Amino acid sequence: MSALITRISRSTLAMKPVVNSVRYQSVWAGVPAGPPDPILGVTEAFKHDKDPRKINLGVGAYRDEHGKPYVLPSVRKADHHIAKSNLNKEYLPITGLPGFNKYAARLAYGPDCKVLNSHRIATTQTISGTGALRIAGEFLARHYPHSKEIYLPTPSWGNHRPIFQNSGLQVKQYAYYDKETVALDFDGMVRDIKNMPNKSIILLHACAHNPTGVDPTQEQWKTLSNVVKEKELFPLFDMAYQGFASGDTDRDAFAVRHFVAEGHQIALCQSFAKNMGLYGERCGLLSFVTDSRDEHARVDSQLKITVRPMYSNPPIHGARIAETILGNHTLYSEWLHEVKGMADRIKSMRATLKTLLYEEHGSKHNWDHITNQIGMFAFLGITPEQVNKLVNEHHVYLTQDGRISVAGITNENVQHLAASLHNVTSV
Ligand SMILES: Cc1ncc(COP(=O)(O)O)c(C=O)c1O
Repeated sequence: MSALITRISRSTLAMKPVVNSVRYQSVWAGVPAGPPDPILGVTEAFKHDKDPRKINLGVGAYRDEHGKPYVLPSVRKADHHIAKSNLNKEYLPITGLPGFNKYAARLAYGPDCKVLNSHRIATTQTISGTGALRIAGEFLARHYPHSKEIYLPTPSWGNHRPIFQNSGLQVKQYAYYDKETVALDFDGMVRDIKNMPNKSIILLHACAHNPTGVDPTQEQWKTLSNVVKEKELFPLFDMAYQGFASGDTDRDAFAVRHFVAEGHQIALCQSFAKNMGLYGERCGLLSFVTDSRDEHARVDSQLKITVRPMYSNPPIHGARIAETILGNHTLYSEWLHEVKGMADRIKSMRATLKTLLYEEHGSKHNWDHITNQIGMFAFLGITPEQVNKLVNEHHVYLTQDGRISVAGITNENVQHLAASLHNVTSV
């Protein structure tokens, strides 16, 4: 007891309640404060800034042309349809809403996919893309027989490493991005893949790589498929942005469909947070390509065993929205049009930012990567000091690695952004 008390400062003790004449110390007194989340922490700092020019380009959420959160009209209609249907709120099955799983898998693998049409893809609805990755990690740690090592691109989405570490996998890295050229380091990527131990797990961003906005070309994906095959690696695809890269959901699924057509047994994590704007609904899908109907049934049984003790079964409402849109011809066409609209607005903001930097500010810096990169993010290729100046002197909030969410740029804030970016890079 005395040892315990000496660990507590006298001033702290003076303020603590006395329980049954024994000095009380909270159970959590020894819990150290952890660092804020690197991405969500940016939003917190933004909220505290009182400057009217402030811009939040930290978080990867789409904003409309006035910088406001956007609910897709097709989502509003699906919501309305669901409300009118007066459905109950019973539990879903462990692996989710069957209609959602079917349509979501069709969106990713394509309606003509042989493996899908021969019922060899095992699916489970997940708590958005993060949940899909977490269940994938857990499943691979338990059942993938050949390796406990997963290789991530350098850099990768900041949550990948903790997700897979928490799943019990060992996280390794492969080259992906070249800081000098601000582009894909394809040779380095192929070299590192060839050096991986055979049958390792490799995580691939299917499209709109986060944070760099740099993707392999279709020809490069074909080479990657061959190298991955030679090394007998297990490809785990993360597809959080289908439709956001090119504006075309089929085109963005090229890598996934090519790998499957080439005979890879992939696993795939999908998110409907970005392409349907269902961020808070937490709607996603995890799927595994299997070899036979029997194997499908066994994988499915183990997915249930993995999910049940973690969250029992997934949330219903977002899946109903996605099911309604993907399963209704008219709503589906409307949604495709809206996804293209979001992708096009992002592309036009990239072009405006680059034009302003060159033409209005006469920047001598090379900004071509802003329009060469795709998807929601632009990786500016600036130093941490320049990032700090943008935040502290110009009220432009972005992640420490120099990533901006282009989806947060509008005609109203792009002038201030261009002037600020020019200011911090021209000295
Ligand atoms: C590459 C990548 N994967 C997965 C996710 C998961 O997102 P969510 O869990 O919101 O679907 C994100 C979100 O930012 C992402 O960028």
